[in-house]
Amino acid sequence: MTRLSLTRVFVLGLLAPLARAEGSQERADPPLAGKDDGLAYEEIEKTTIYTDNATAPAVHLPPVDGWWDSKICSSDENYCVFTNRRAAKGRGIVAVTRPDELEKLEKLEEVINKSENRYLIDDPESTLQEKDLPEYDGLTGLVATKALRRNKPLFAWTPVLFAHKQMFQKGGPKKKDRTRLLEAAVGFLPPHTRAAFDKQRRRPGDNSGLNPRSIEEILKAHPWEVDLGVNWNHRDPDVHSRHYVNFPEASVLQHDCRPNTAVYIDSKFTLRATVARKVNPGEALTVSYIDPFLSRKERNAFVRKYRAPRGPDGKPTHGCRCSACSGPDKDKHEERLKELLELRGELRNHDSRKVDFALIERFVKLVEEEGLHARYAEPYELAALNFNYYGDDKRAKKYADKAVQAGIVEGGLESNDVVAMRIMANDIKGHYSYRYNLKRRGQA
Ligand SMILES: *[C@@H]1O[C@H](CO)[C@@H](O)[C@H](O)[C@H]1NC(C)=O
Ligand SMILES: *[C@@H]1O[C@H](CO)[C@@H](O)[C@H](O)[C@H]1NC(C)=O
Repeated sequence: MTRLSLTRVFVLGLLAPLARAEGSQERADPPLAGKDDGLAYEEIEKTTIYTDNATAPAVHLPPVDGWWDSKICSSDENYCVFTNRRAAKGRGIVAVTRPDELEKLEKLEEVINKSENRYLIDDPESTLQEKDLPEYDGLTGLVATKALRRNKPLFAWTPVLFAHKQMFQKGGPKKKDRTRLLEAAVGFLPPHTRAAFDKQRRRPGDNSGLNPRSIEEILKAHPWEVDLGVNWNHRDPDVHSRHYVNFPEASVLQHDCRPNTAVYIDSKFTLRATVARKVNPGEALTVSYIDPFLSRKERNAFVRKYRAPRGPDGKPTHGCRCSACSGPDKDKHEERLKELLELRGELRNHDSRKVDFALIERFVKLVEEEGLHARYAEPYELAALNFNYYGDDKRAKKYADKAVQAGIVEGGLESNDVVAMRIMANDIKGHYSYRYNLKRRGQA
């Protein structure tokens, strides 16, 4: 069984059907009043490069057409800055990556060109509002002004920055070197995109704006990730192609380990957000930037490290603040999460002798009660399969249908899990899983 994870892996070449390319939207005040302002052909003279004052060598302005190798590289020359200012209708993409990834970036433009960059919700101006939120350390959030129901698609944005993950690992360039490259890259984004990017620089708890977040901090606070696929011509098996990606407009989604919004990156590298549970007017939209099944300790560590302000002593002022982390019942929640994970382990194991119908129902109940609305697909899938393994085709059908519904919210109509669960739901008794464990054990 494939595990659904927040960071999904995509391989270029899986071309999705042609989608209508929408104009990029520039955010004015009020925040959601978008308009297509023909961004593709702005004058490149307008570009100011942030690294003018850094140690980067003198650079030339990038051309508007296609990918441009800036020749700005790390001192070990393993990572360089590449830019493409015309991609996604002039929204632009920049990358800090290995030069041998350029070929993949070339294909990327075509894929990303076919994506949209817009709110998918009707009438976003009167439904959502950007607002500074004291409960999220003064960061800007996206607040519903009307009630929103589960399944409502919210937005689709293409990434504007790719940063090779290996660069941040041991043996990579020094932090100062990385900063120079990342700043140079972002400096090459077309001005409207750069302005959207720069909104993310506000540091939690810092209203003065005097101490902006670094790009690296921004990437780690919103750790979206994609894989550009295997590097066939690379001999070193440890060289991978995973990149942090940044979607500036999506960073208004604040972090909550029991969030109300489900997100996934589709085959066009586009981040899609859908309402995962009813959102009341006045409520901020939230996602979990980490696996919500992680323990409280790990959830706390992420918030402390990447999302909380620092106090005068330099220590984070708070940890995870979702209901399951800091509510009065937090210990109860943690016990239930532990139980839930144990049950999940049993359900994933064909040899488990503990699985019975009561256990499966208990597992689903725990998931639903723990507020994991943005991550129902896999639990429902597990429930469907296990009911079928033990011959209860009625309940298997019920959960296969639920897995399809949840899968659409969490991974899109065409995701593998949705396709697989559809096939199962359409022919429960014909599915390999029907009475599978009973047969394996000679009980059929
Ligand atoms: C470049 O200059 C700006 C404004 O003076 C400053 O905020 C920024 O930190 C400098 N960047 C680097 C990489 O030195
Ligand atoms: C992507 O779109 C831009 C215009 O927005 C166009 O100039 C460019 O040729 C397209 N690239 C590809 C590879 O289709």
